[in-house]
Amino acid sequence: MHPARAYAPGKIILFGEHAVVHGQPAIAVPLTAVQAHAEAIPDTFGAGLTVQAPDIGRTLHAAESFDEVADEADPVYNALMFPLELALDALNAPVPDLAITIRSSIPIASGLGSGAALATALIRALTMALGRSLRREKLNELVYEVEKRHHGNPSGIDNTVIVYERPIYFVRKTPPVPFAIGAPFTLVVADTGVNSPTKLTVEDVRRLFEAEPERVGSIFERIGAIACEGRAAIEAGQIAALGPLMNENHALLRQLTVSSPELDDLCAAALKAGASGAKLSGGGRGGNMIALADPAITPAVASALYEAGATSVFVTTVG
Ligand code: PMV
Repeated sequence: MHPARAYAPGKIILFGEHAVVHGQPAIAVPLTAVQAHAEAIPDTFGAGLTVQAPDIGRTLHAAESFDEVADEADPVYNALMFPLELALDALNAPVPDLAITIRSSIPIASGLGSGAALATALIRALTMALGRSLRREKLNELVYEVEKRHHGNPSGIDNTVIVYERPIYFVRKTPPVPFAIGAPFTLVVADTGVNSPTKLTVEDVRRLFEAEPERVGSIFERIGAIACEGRAAIEAGQIAALGPLMNENHALLRQLTVSSPELDDLCAAALKAGASGAKLSGGGRGGNMIALADPAITPAVASALYEAGATSVFVTTVG
């Protein structure tokens, strides 16, 4: 066994959240401004596997097997130990004597891919410490299993963009398509400070779809078309085309009932400060929104977002 370190980025869904669960395309990019880091250190003989998460003050321990500690109802177990349980199973390896410390700057339950990034960093550190390797596709499959614990019925976009660490055009149950960024663009990312479990909004959208299949189905289709148009504009470096697409996508997400007064206020404030487009990103009803802004006006957009109630704001360049 060796000491090992691994990391995984967060992610931003640019277009297509929720509709992607129902088979439409979506596009997402890795977000390296926030990251999860795992550090594995070999422990003494017989110590078993320990995961320490100092950010949340929790330590989990599996002595010889996971049976004694496994608790599907515990979100901390699912986030920190379940990925390792799955990976050891896939590697056909016994519980190792290893201590892993995990730290993350990705806010939890806010649409930036915290769960998938933690799982990816943990599994990578574990496999490296064991001197083993997992194919990227296999790692993606395992992280998807973890996402299922968090979300119930995830599309798989979060784990895929985080594991591949590339801009991804994603359609459920088909291989991901990495795509190129034709010209860099700047996003201002703002947090409502409201934690909103994706599982609930995904369930509500499913119920809405069941109740009104035609209306909601056509909203999904338009969102899917926006994701395709967005990808084409990004590949061609036509950044000016993105703002209106973001605004339209946000309006459609509102119709799916997954926006919130906080998200709408932040989008309006960003647009008023000169952003050319704004939308919620991720599961919605809380979490983060993104605004497209010329780099020269990002300080003004960031201040406007704070004034409108954002609890944190950062600026990131895509590409
Ligand atoms: O809230 P997040 O970042 O996990 O976003 C999930 C995106 C959804 O489309 C709402 C759900 C999914 O599984 O794709």
